[in-house]
Order: sequence, then structure tokens, then C-alpha cells
Amino acid sequence: MAEATTLPDPAHARAGIFFDPASAPVHPGTTAHPGLRHLLGLEGLSAHAIHDLLDAARAWRARWTRSRAPVTTLAGVEVCNAFFEDSTRTRLSFELAQRRLGATPLGFGVAGSSCSKGESLLDTLRTIAAMGVDVFVIRHASSGAAALAARELGVPVVNAGDGAHEHPTQGLLDLLTLADAWGGSFAGRRVAILGDIAHSRVARSAIHGLAALGARVTVAGPATLVPRDAGALGCDVAPTVEDALRGADAAIALRLQTERMDRGLLPSIGDYVRAWRLDAARARLLAPHAVVLHPGPMNRDVEIASDVADGERSVVLRQVANGVAVRAAVLAWCADRVAA
Ligand code: MLT
Repeated sequence: MAEATTLPDPAHARAGIFFDPASAPVHPGTTAHPGLRHLLGLEGLSAHAIHDLLDAARAWRARWTRSRAPVTTLAGVEVCNAFFEDSTRTRLSFELAQRRLGATPLGFGVAGSSCSKGESLLDTLRTIAAMGVDVFVIRHASSGAAALAARELGVPVVNAGDGAHEHPTQGLLDLLTLADAWGGSFAGRRVAILGDIAHSRVARSAIHGLAALGARVTVAGPATLVPRDAGALGCDVAPTVEDALRGADAAIALRLQTERMDRGLLPSIGDYVRAWRLDAARARLLAPHAVVLHPGPMNRDVEIASDVADGERSVVLRQVANGVAVRAAVLAWCADRVAA
């Protein structure tokens, strides 16, 4: 963690967000959160800060429906997308947002880099930083990798997913998609998060973000895939997928994160599908207006049935579209930190 000397808002002091009191934003409209320097997680981020980011994302989205002409928000800001783990939508939407904001993104992937020769994460990042990178967007298989980079590199860091910890821009795009579906109001709403909660950084970011905005979360999944601290995170734990879905205002289906799973956590995929898949009959238990989300990549007919994924409640592609606007909002925020 960065050693911040003064914290402007105690709610921000918890894990996830670092403060740099010396960073004073230079552009108008960003003075509300003067010490916020990195986006490492949604844990500890205030409702005020989240709403500001969602408002900024809406503004970018509205602008791009009128014109795709690039702006100069990130002109002269060198952004490196350091992806030590595979990605399609997160990486491409960061890149698209960077291009639309006037940056020339620097791409980095493990394949073809010196990591394959045994270079450490920090040595690799310090090497890239020495070339004059101003902002890092980092994805890594280890929880805490983005926080380590934020502490060591001296430039703003955006976490694009660290192990099973957090994926804050996914959390923000989920919140924006839910706000679209709910007319902007979170109070009194309930979201069912289904499946592999324990290994999901998407779930953790959604849980923190929804709690900050006043919505309730019910999680449901096999006992081996629901974290023991789910209650401590402020969630209700439902014994069955049906219990979680009944009357909920939205459902988020999660992929089985087999790359992070120990063997033996599930009896078989067939058993999982029978007990936990979000299928059409189960989706009918949701409130009539409810929407269905999935962060992708989807394993069709495993955690979500195809007819639900493509059905009228599904906002999966809306999530993807919102990802570009959310990432633009976060990057524009970082640009202020660079300029300060
Ligand atoms: C992630 O990177 O966490 C994805 O967006 C969700 C997944 O991999 O299942």
C-alpha cells in the first residue's frame, strides 16, 4: 500500500484505493476526489466517487453516439496495457477508450516478452516505466499485483483484474448497466450473483460497488465455490439458485474459473449444470423487469443457458458497450493524476 500521510475521506482508506495528497487535479470537474490516484478496487470507494465515475462514463457514451472524433484528453499521456493474463473485452475496450481519448496505447502481453525468460513482474514493469510510461493498466493472475505496482512505480495504476481479488472497471460497467436498467436508482434493489463466487474478482468488485450504492446482494453457488467470508462482505447466501433468483432485480451469472480452482471442488460439470445453471425456467423467478448479466467469456450452457444469454432480459452486450465508456472515464481521471 502507498504510504499516504493524510486521507481526505476515511471511507477511502481501506484496501483498493490509494491516495496521494500531493496530486491536485488540474482539469475542472474532478476536484471532488483530489487524493484518488489509482483505481485498484471498488472496496472503499465512496458512493460519491462511484457516481462521479458513472456520470463521466455516461458523458463519454453520449458524446460517442454523436461523434467518434478523437479528443485530446490523453494526448501526450503514455499508457501501457500490461496484460500478464489473457483478455479479449477488457483489453480491447481499454485500447479503444485510449485511442478515442487521443493516446497511443502501448501493448504488452506475456507471450513474446522477457517474462518468458524468467523476468519478475516488478522488473518487467520497472523496465517499461523507465521508458516514460505515465499510466499502467495491469492484469495479472496474482491478487495484489496491481497494488504492488501502484506502490512501486510512482505512476497511476488501473487494475484490470488481479487474481481473485478485484476487477474494478468490470464492477463499474456492471453498475452502469444496472443503472441503465433501473433508471439510475440502486436503493432497495437486489442482485443475485450465481456460481463460482470464490474465484471471481468480478463478484468481489460488484459486491463492493453495489453495497456502496445501497443495493443488496444474494450469492448462490456450490458450497465449495462460495467464500466463507461472504457474510462479512455484506451478502446474503442463498441455499439454492432458485432462492437467490426469486424476486431479484438482476442476476449476474459467473464463469467457472477453472484456471484458479483446485481440483476436486466440483463433483462434475453435469451436476453443476443441474443445480446451478441459469436457465429459462429459473430466470422466470426474477422480478418481471429484471435483467441478466454475464461478464464474459461465457461458457454457454454451463453457467448460463444459451436462450437466457441471448434472451430479452440479457444485457450482456450492453455491458461490453458500457465497458468502453467506463474505461474512458477511469483513464480520464488518471490523466488528471499525471498532469498534477
Ligand atoms: C475476468 O477477467 O475476470 C473476466 O472478466 C471474467 C471471467 O474471466 O470469467
